[in-house]
Amino acid sequence: MNLILMGAPGAGKGTQAVKISEKFNIPTISTGDTLRRAIADGTEMGLKAKSYMDEGKLVPDAVVIGIIKDYLATDACKNGFILDGFPRSLPQAEALDAMGGNIDAVVSIDVADDVIVERMSGRRVCACGASYHVRHNPPAVADVCDKCGSALYTRADDNAETVKNRLQTYHDLTEPIAEYYNAKGKLIRVDGQGAVEDITARVFAALESIEA
Ligand code: AP5
Ligand code: MG
Ligand code: ZN
Repeated sequence: MNLILMGAPGAGKGTQAVKISEKFNIPTISTGDTLRRAIADGTEMGLKAKSYMDEGKLVPDAVVIGIIKDYLATDACKNGFILDGFPRSLPQAEALDAMGGNIDAVVSIDVADDVIVERMSGRRVCACGASYHVRHNPPAVADVCDKCGSALYTRADDNAETVKNRLQTYHDLTEPIAEYYNAKGKLIRVDGQGAVEDITARVFAALESIEA
């Protein structure tokens, strides 16, 4: 199964990607996580991406298209993949089609803006990709990752000002591509508000119906 996860910043893409990945045994890639690793490693790509991410803007299409092109060429995704946070613009969606990355479904996790702002203020993340919330989704031991035991931290772009810009970018550039996939009959909208496990159940039900 080849999937795209769409949704506003903080909609729960990363949280649900881990669940889908475990259940259907397919790998997941987050362009945001890949870019943050590049920044941490001080690579040329990281240097290019940092100022855009700090401002809550999209990194240039060519950079993220390159990440996905390299990823889809690896053996890891031969039996399916989950793209978390890609594509985010019409040119990215068109580039993905041109790569031949046959997409079975685009799951849009829909969450209202005011709920997003509250979620981002309590988020703690791990370098391994896991994501927690101090109240809604806490780790077993405070500030320690359940999956790998590393210390959790707050993302640089989770401050109020940048969150506002990320939401605006989402509405302006990313939300319109839902219609691109709807026209192809690929779009599945899932209500992203409520308990994490309830949303996971909704996503699984939707995916099982397309697998059948
Ligand atoms: P990216 O890292 O993808 O950030 P984002 O889209 O802003 O999404 P997030 O990772 O913040 O949220 P999420 O949906 O994964 O939610 P999570 O599961 O963590 O991108 C960062 C930047 O990189 C972009 O701004 C851009 O600059 C650049 N970039 C990345 N991809 C790009 C692309 N394709 N093109 C151009 N630029 C690109 O959940 C959020 C919080 O809520 C957590 O605390 C979680 O525990 C909690 N939570 C989750 N579900 C629930 C629930 N049901 N109830 C309560 N709390 C919940
Ligand atoms: Mg994420
Ligand atoms: Zn971890």
